[in-house]
Amino acid sequence: MSSASAASVDVPLIARAPCPPDDPLRLGVLVSGSGSNLAAILDAAREPSRAFSVAVVVSNVAGVKALERAAAAGVPALVEDHKGKSREAFEDALHAALTAHRVEAVVLAGFMRVLTAHFLDRWKHRVLNVHPALCPAFPGMHAPRQALAHGARVTGCTVHLVDAGVDTGPILAQSAVAIRDDDDEAALTARIQAEEHRLFPAVLAALARGQVRVIEGRPRAFGVAAHGHTS
Ligand code: GRF
Repeated sequence: MSSASAASVDVPLIARAPCPPDDPLRLGVLVSGSGSNLAAILDAAREPSRAFSVAVVVSNVAGVKALERAAAAGVPALVEDHKGKSREAFEDALHAALTAHRVEAVVLAGFMRVLTAHFLDRWKHRVLNVHPALCPAFPGMHAPRQALAHGARVTGCTVHLVDAGVDTGPILAQSAVAIRDDDDEAALTARIQAEEHRLFPAVLAALARGQVRVIEGRPRAFGVAAHGHTS
């Protein structure tokens, strides 16, 4: 295979110069609620060796804790209410806020609205989500509750690219969490979220460093520990 054709089948998902800590990847984080994943991302963005920064946080719900966390971190935070707007108008407002803050990749961190192709086509391969299950299992709401109801013995969390489906986009990284005999929804959710808080910033750092690559059409994240807790 010639080097030219080899290059064409293995490319970084986001092509940019390698990012030293003074040129971090600019993230826009969309939230709707508590923002514990946002907090983990903000913590990672404060480290001296950071690979990314949070350029803006946008919530579709006013008064949520995630907005407080952004403000406490000194990050621009704003509300774009989806109510009373068409999906297109809401997504146009999100797009305008993200581009105004020169965002390079969009992070869904507990963002409770489905995004359509109207938005996603403009951010192709640049929108990431974390879901509290091992996709494609248990998509949608209450994934830990679904896992318990099915009698699953192992679940976990998934960081994936967002497509127009619900938790269906290409998988970048996963972490497994064992389900214990005495688990309830709250206990299981807490252990899954602890894994999310480790995995999501790690994938975002890999993305910023060019270690999320599209190989023969399939996105893959390198350098992210895939382990979880299976006992
Ligand atoms: C997380 O469990 C995530 O998997 C799901 O929504 C939850 C958001 O929690 N998409 P938080 O707002 O980050 O605390």
